[in-house]
Amino acid sequence: MTNYSPRFSQLSEALSGDDANVWAVSDRAHELADQGEDVIFLCVGDPNFDTPEPILDYTRARLGVGRTHYSPDAGEPVLRRAIANIESKVSPHPCSPDDVVVFPGGTNAIYAVLACLLNPGEEILIPEPMYIGYVPICDALRLKMKKVACPADNNFAFDVDDIVAAIGDDTRVVMINTPVNPTGAMATPEQLRELAAHCRERGIWLVCDEMYSMITFARRHTSLRTAAEHLDNVVVIDGLSKSHAMSGWRLGWAVAQGPLVERLTQFAGATIFGCPQFIQEAAAFALEFDTYFVEQMRSAYQKRRDLIVERIGRIPGLSCYSPDAGMFVMVDVSRVADSGEAFAEALLDAERVSVLPGAPFGASAANHVRLTLAAEEGELARALDRIEHFVTSGNRRAS
Ligand SMILES: Cc1ncc(COP(=O)(O)O)c(C=O)c1O
Repeated sequence: MTNYSPRFSQLSEALSGDDANVWAVSDRAHELADQGEDVIFLCVGDPNFDTPEPILDYTRARLGVGRTHYSPDAGEPVLRRAIANIESKVSPHPCSPDDVVVFPGGTNAIYAVLACLLNPGEEILIPEPMYIGYVPICDALRLKMKKVACPADNNFAFDVDDIVAAIGDDTRVVMINTPVNPTGAMATPEQLRELAAHCRERGIWLVCDEMYSMITFARRHTSLRTAAEHLDNVVVIDGLSKSHAMSGWRLGWAVAQGPLVERLTQFAGATIFGCPQFIQEAAAFALEFDTYFVEQMRSAYQKRRDLIVERIGRIPGLSCYSPDAGMFVMVDVSRVADSGEAFAEALLDAERVSVLPGAPFGASAANHVRLTLAAEEGELARALDRIEHFVTSGNRRAS
């Protein structure tokens, strides 16, 4: 009898690669917590707020009237209209509901956009540090990722000249993220405009992931769509996971122009066949009536950011800048540890605080660890006491 040996596609093989390093410290933290240890988790990017009550009420009402059926491939008109209205309000370019395609989450929107723009083996240029989730998407699509460094000594700020210099003959897409996970860096309107124009001149796409567009502190976010002079080579991706504490509802979208929208709609039709009606309607409601609770959460994140920045500034050997946006603070540990990873491992061992090492986000962040703002102030204060004790006591084993 012969043994059956299952064969899998290249796509699934590409996804089965070893990403153990990314979550190694956090996995160990969960094991310790399962054993009853008092672990404080500062590693997650999932908002620690409940989805606001008015959105829940509205959702229940829509379920009650039977909004539980198939939905159009590109999304419910009411949601596409709400998204287009938001885009139109801030942008010199009017946005039509026909420019919007709805997806189950930002991740899926990014996957769909890249699947429609690139063939296996083609090159995508991405500034780093970057969101870890781009790697499996690029792996699945078998894209060649070329990274361009945003150095730590400039607080990981974008440098358009560096990005432009890294664009090669093989580059098909430049993908940026503003505000950036993990660094909180924000591209200025001028930078976006310049980069969009340059990409257009070179005949390549510029994709902008704007998942943290509503969590800004220093100044308002400017969308690529607002900043760019021409829109035929630009794509914007956004969603409700972060801003509205709706990560589990899986709701994101892409805004683009005609021909790409057509392809994205076909892609969504083939792979999703419509997002749930009641979730899309709740999302439209959330976007239309959100001013109060989005502001409440934004202001809580800002207070938490200020707390972390103030406390880290007082711990000898650690340093951080105050991020302009997003849900994270990057802490430079180079004076007390060999690497962010060594620091994170030793901190977990000694003090039971789980933070993410910077290296998986990109080489520029190798001497940093990422702390989340998705924890109550009291929890953050307790974690910072432990971090301070770790760094100032003789027990530190990070170097
Ligand atoms: C920059 C960035 N883009 C996209 C995503 C994915 O968003 P979603 O949870 O809606 O799939 C995340 C989630 O952490 C993110 O940080």
